[in-house]
Amino acid sequence: MCGIVGYIGFREAYPILIKGLHRLEYRGYDSAGVALINKEDRLSVYKAKGRVQDLEEYAKDKDITGTIGIAHTRWATHGEPSNSNAHPHYSQSESLALIHNGIIENYAVLKAQLIQNGYTFQSSTDTEVLVQLIEYIKKLNNCDLFSAVQIALNQVVGAYAIAVIEKGKPEQIIAARKSSPLVIGVGDGEFFIGSDASPIIEYTNKVIYLDDEEIAIIKRNEEPKIVTIANIEKTHEIKQLEMNLSQLERGGYPHFMLKEIYEQPETLKNCMSGRINIEGTNVTLSGIIDHKEKFINARRIIIIACGTSWHAGLIGEYLFEEFCRIPVEVEYASEFRYRNPVIHPDDIVIAISQSGETADSLAAIELARKAGAFVYGVCNVVGSSIPRNTDSGSYTHCGHEIGVASTKAFTAQVTVLTMMALTIAKEKGSIDNDKYIDTIKELQLIPSKIEKALAANEKIKELSKIFTYAQNFIYLGRGYNYPIALEGALKLKEISYIHAEGYPAAEMKHGPIALIDNEMPVVSIATNSAIYEKVVSNIQEIKARKGCVIAIINEGDETMKSMADRYIEIPATIECLDPLLTAIPLQLLAYHIAVNKNRDVDMPRNLAKSVTVE
Ligand code: AGP
Ligand code: GLU
Repeated sequence: MCGIVGYIGFREAYPILIKGLHRLEYRGYDSAGVALINKEDRLSVYKAKGRVQDLEEYAKDKDITGTIGIAHTRWATHGEPSNSNAHPHYSQSESLALIHNGIIENYAVLKAQLIQNGYTFQSSTDTEVLVQLIEYIKKLNNCDLFSAVQIALNQVVGAYAIAVIEKGKPEQIIAARKSSPLVIGVGDGEFFIGSDASPIIEYTNKVIYLDDEEIAIIKRNEEPKIVTIANIEKTHEIKQLEMNLSQLERGGYPHFMLKEIYEQPETLKNCMSGRINIEGTNVTLSGIIDHKEKFINARRIIIIACGTSWHAGLIGEYLFEEFCRIPVEVEYASEFRYRNPVIHPDDIVIAISQSGETADSLAAIELARKAGAFVYGVCNVVGSSIPRNTDSGSYTHCGHEIGVASTKAFTAQVTVLTMMALTIAKEKGSIDNDKYIDTIKELQLIPSKIEKALAANEKIKELSKIFTYAQNFIYLGRGYNYPIALEGALKLKEISYIHAEGYPAAEMKHGPIALIDNEMPVVSIATNSAIYEKVVSNIQEIKARKGCVIAIINEGDETMKSMADRYIEIPATIECLDPLLTAIPLQLLAYHIAVNKNRDVDMPRNLAKSVTVE
């Protein structure tokens, strides 16, 4: 969580930092701040509770000059969102300013020691402890900022991406990371820092990704010097960014989320491109083929992920078991990492993550690798930590996702999992050729079918008005659509703040049916499947208790039309690909209800795009 941005060069830093904060605001948005060193060598910190625009308002009459600066948009972990808890934090003498993404877990012990040494604190954050510690070490050892940062980081337990500047040293930014992302943009004698590349891309497409426990000394006109906290010098290849600026703009849509929902026909084409041949007779994921023996001989697949990515993982379970006949377990990364799981060297662990930076998923990966399992990453953000910490993997290639509620990343994850299952099944000989070809051919039709599903948008918008004031929602689905019920409910919760629960439809009768009355909207995913008749019975049970059924149905399903109170039609497809279509109306329904309620759709309260803390 949180976005950090920095600049050192020849231009005015402030406009670059503010623009960067706007780009990164999706990562955290409860307060924001900036630190600059001006020509007279004054180090100024300005910060404000609220959004980046509140900071701009606050700083507008201040001295915002200077060609070096750092800035932060926060997602609070320690201490409420407030002016004093906002970053950057000054050290005691106000000669250092620091921004931080992550958690200093041993902050309490360090703080107590610093208080004993006469330090006082202006905030309740863990971050302020780190900047004070650096100053304390610097004074105690009479050393330079780099050495003080290095010593301090050796005493710190936890996760950090930091940037520090020092009064009297306008020629350098010190940056470091461990378990939180940090990218350095390399310009012409000037340098940029970002939590991701979005604040950097309009100035340069050359970047350096720092690794864990590395510290960079960044100076104008010099190659950044990178040294680990154990004092080992490192050299890093400069990588080219694939991102383009249009991905970072709303392009005429009122919200990023709506833009991203509408991008799905295109993103899925990109996701399949180069992986499925033109004739539609073959799918190949090189990340699998390069290690095919591992997959053919896998004893078990364990999928680890969080949130929406976990829902994609649940669909993966159905796919791998049906096509590859390999037993699958799907685990919340946060639970997996702490429960001493049984992992064998012939297990394959698949980590799914849009951001590639989710702290729980990274920790689960580390655990799996230590146990000797082969770890495969399914990620969207190129060059992020998960792809760099896994044995192999596939990118989802759906472009930058900015809306905090994940949409296009989800369908791309499901598409990658489908291609993975097909690739493994073919290698293993566990799928018959007709089914293999039929599935590929149908997969290729999905982008155009999503376009048709999107055509229901106006109808969904109208329908959403009826449910704007509902207090609760239930989502039901079975088989491949059970995870979609969970995902539909999550989307609604996240952006409208309406309580919603997803269930496998047949589980209703084991308890949740007690919730049904005439005020309870029940979204039922009732498309054609092998258990269609059973879904019909589940809907009857709800109708018998006066529940209001909104059914997602296949075009022309007259039975369902007559049974449901409301319905949304989508094109039919084969069962295993149905989630790619049923997800669409549920994304739109959540979106419109949230808009009706005047919610901040792209930046819902309390959330952040990338959860880089535990
Ligand atoms: C999705 O709408 C959520 N905001 C959230 O659940 C997200 O899917 C989860 O935090 C996992 O993120 P990741 O895919 O980047 O790992
Ligand atoms: N732990 C720090 C705080 O609460 C940093 C949070 C963040 O990553 O935004 O201020």
